[in-house]
Amino acid sequence: MRIQKSTDKEYFGRKGLFRADSNIEKSKGFMGGGNKMMDKAGNKVLTPNLTPHETGIGNWTEAEFARTITNGINKDMNPVTYPMPLYPELTETEISAIFAYLQSIPPIKNEVKKK
Ligand code: HEM
Repeated sequence: MRIQKSTDKEYFGRKGLFRADSNIEKSKGFMGGGNKMMDKAGNKVLTPNLTPHETGIGNWTEAEFARTITNGINKDMNPVTYPMPLYPELTETEISAIFAYLQSIPPIKNEVKKK
């Protein structure tokens, strides 16, 4: 898989990433999280704020972000819940591109409550 540039929205679309957290074209504010999903037990789980605000992932390092999406351990060292998929197949370059893109979008202030 090849990335043309770090903010290539087409890339994300083709790869089918961001369906839930952040379907890029879906609706205004969607990347700010708080969208309701269900875990395997049928309990509500909210999508996170992936924007570069302090209530999102604005103060995450790229290493923390990489660990979260490849190993499922977030910045606070807590495991992330289904339906968040893990992407261990992503290369460092791809992860960097995704992180750079997410850091480039408008920050949204939205504190998403965790269980
Ligand atoms: C490249 C695509 C994706 C990226 C970069 C991404 C990123 C993240 C990150 C960084 C977190 C952790 C937030 C935190 O702990 O504060 C997270 C959690 C989550 N993601 Fe994703 N995600 C992606 C795709 C998806 C998809 C496809 C789904 C669902 C179909 C999904 C659903 C969720 C949910 C429900 C959570 C919250 C889990 C929990 O509270 O434990 N994500 N995502």
